[in-house]
Parts: sequence; structure tokens; C-alpha cells
Amino acid sequence: MPRAEVRRIELRELTTLKVGGPAELWEVDEVDALTEATAEPYRVIGAGSNLLVSDAGVPERVIRLGRSFNDIASFRGERELWLGAATPLPGLVRRAQRLGLSGLEGLLGVPAVLGGAVAMNAGTRFGEMSDTLQEVEVFVNGALERLRADALELAYRHARLPDGAVLVRARLRLAASDPERVQQRMDVVDAARKGQPKVKSAGCAFKNPPGDSAGRIIDAAGLKGLRVGDAMVALEHGNFIVNLGHATARDVCQLLQRIRERTSVPLELEWRRWGFEGEAA
Ligand code: FAD
Ligand code: EPU
Repeated sequence: MPRAEVRRIELRELTTLKVGGPAELWEVDEVDALTEATAEPYRVIGAGSNLLVSDAGVPERVIRLGRSFNDIASFRGERELWLGAATPLPGLVRRAQRLGLSGLEGLLGVPAVLGGAVAMNAGTRFGEMSDTLQEVEVFVNGALERLRADALELAYRHARLPDGAVLVRARLRLAASDPERVQQRMDVVDAARKGQPKVKSAGCAFKNPPGDSAGRIIDAAGLKGLRVGDAMVALEHGNFIVNLGHATARDVCQLLQRIRERTSVPLELEWRRWGFEGEAA
């Protein structure tokens, strides 16, 4: 029987915010091992770049797709291709540029793997995952299933995967261009990201309300630099919460609460929260 590699970990090791307590990690390197891995309650982690995990960790298994789901090396310039969910997005964006393929440049700077980028419909105002996504392959209820992109209700930072689905592959369609053109578009995205902090974070904490920017709202409320423990509203950008060293989930939650108390517009969290069931979002 195909086996997963199972070990206890601290989720702070697997998240970019470097917050989160213990869990059982199931590292899966072949689709068949998902049958056993999904036999008990589970969650799926990608690059952990949009997660706020409780200090108590999570009781569910945490499934992570291993190296055999990373297809970066086999991407050689096809316009249409299936790629594994553990393919790192930054490498994919760079490689598409070198191969003169357009469609992914808006995703420059998003530190995801493909599965997490699809699950969040990651993007910027210069482009999002839904621009290139055609189809996904998910493992759900013990079997593989293919779903067309239009069945996923892709919208701003939103995708609707079937309950419990583990996304294993995605089919993308890119457009022929040339490396310089693609690079020029990437330079524009890069310039737009210059004001974002470089230290430990999980990207923007809140979604932008329609027609406005949560970062602008938090900044206008004078909250940059507001701090609880080692969690701080970034000085560079109001919608980034940075971990100055040893922030806990408790610090981060208190800071989120204070931000909400001091801003007039209701702000919806973009991060996925793990281990806070029963508490308000
Ligand atoms: P994770 O954070 O690990 O997981 C996110 C969600 O996806 C979870 O619900 C998880 O269960 C689910 N998931 C992950 N993999 C799978 C899978 N294989 N099958 C089923 N479900 C899965 N986001 C943007 O949209 N635009 C940005 O410009 C942006 N900039 C960022 C900059 C920084 C510095 C950081 C740290 C983050 C930024 N983010 C941005 C947030 C984050 O990168 C995205 O939300 C990204 O899509 C998360 O991908 P991930 O692989 O890290 O997923
Ligand atoms: N602004 C301020 N103060 C701040 C931050 C922003 O006044 O502290 C103003 C800016 O001057 C600008 C406007 O708000 O006029 C928009 O700011 P920015 O260009 O930085 O974009 P954003 O709306 O804050 C969004 C995404 C980012 C993405 C960038 C680049 C959301 C929640 N955020 O930020 O995505 O990288 O655009 O396109 O949609 C993420 O989702 O995690 C993320 C980082």
C-alpha cells in the first residue's frame, strides 16, 4: 500500500507568518497514498502563505503534496499544460517569462504553490489565477475527478472547490508572447509591489472592500506600527501584519481585533484561519 510520510511538526515551520502550533503532517508523494491520508479528518497545506494557525495547532492531519507533485522541471514551453499542485508559483512565473509565455506575470511575487494559488484564486490587479486556469484534477471522496475552471466560481480571492477536495493538478493555458514583453509586464507588477514589507508575513490580512483598499483604510486610521507582542501592522503597508520575531497567534488575533475596532469599514479576512473553530472570523 502506498504510504505517506507521517511526522509531528509545529505549523509555524510551514507557514510564512511563522505562527502556529502542533499537527500531524502527512507528506504524500503519490495520488494513491491520498486514500489512507484522507481516511481521517484532514486539511491541505500549500506553501502556507495565507494561513493564520492557532497556537494550539490543529487536531486534523495536515496533508502536504510532496516533490512528485512539483512539475516545474518538465515545463518546457507548452502553451497548454497540466502541472502538479506542488509546483512553486514563483518558479513557474519566471520560467514562463524565459519561455516567452504570457498569462502568469500578474502573479509575480505571490509565494504560493499552484494548489494554494488556485484554491485562493491568487492574483493582483494585473492578473489572477483564473486568467489561465482551464481545469483542475481533485482527489475527493476517494477518487480523482476533473472539474472545468468555470465550475469553480472563480472570483476575487475566491474559488469553490468541492468539500474536502485535494487539488492535485491544474491545467493552464498560456499565450505566446516574447520574453522581453513578458518581462516588461512583470516589471510593472514588481514596481506595484515595491511598497510591501519583506519580512515574515502572510501577505494582506484583509480583502479589499469593493472600490477601496484595506491597506489605505488601515493607514488612514493611523494604525501603522500598532503592535501586540511581536505582531505589528507593517510600517510599509497597512494591510500587512508582520512577525517581528516571536509573535503568537494570540498576538495576531488581538491585533486584528484592534484594527477592526479602529476602522470604520467592516474588513473581511483574506487569510484562512486554522484551529479557531467556534470563534468569530
Ligand atoms: P496555503 O496558504 O498553504 O493555503 C491556502 C488555502 O488553500 C487553504 O485553505 C488550503 O487548505 C488551500 N489549499 C492549498 N493547497 C491546496 C490543495 N492542493 N488542495 C486543496 N486546497 C489547498 N495573495 C494574492 O492573491 N496576491 C498577492 O499579491 C499576494 N502577495 C503575497 C505576498 C506575500 C509576501 C505573502 C506571504 C503572501 C501573499 N499572498 C498574496 C497570499 C498567498 O500567497 C496566496 O493566498 C496564495 O494563494 C496561498 O497559496 P499557498 O500555496 O501558500 O496556500
Ligand atoms: N495605500 C495606502 N497606505 C497603505 C497601503 C496602501 O495609502 O498602507 C494606498 C496606496 O497608495 C494605493 C492603494 O492604497 O493608492 C492601493 O494600494 P496597493 O497598490 O498597495 O494595493 P492593495 O490594494 O493594498 C492589492 C492586493 C495585494 C497585491 C497588490 C498589488 C488585496 C487585499 N491586496 O493590495 O495582494 O499584491 O494589490 O497588486 O487585494 C494579498 O492578497 O495578500 C496581497 C498582497
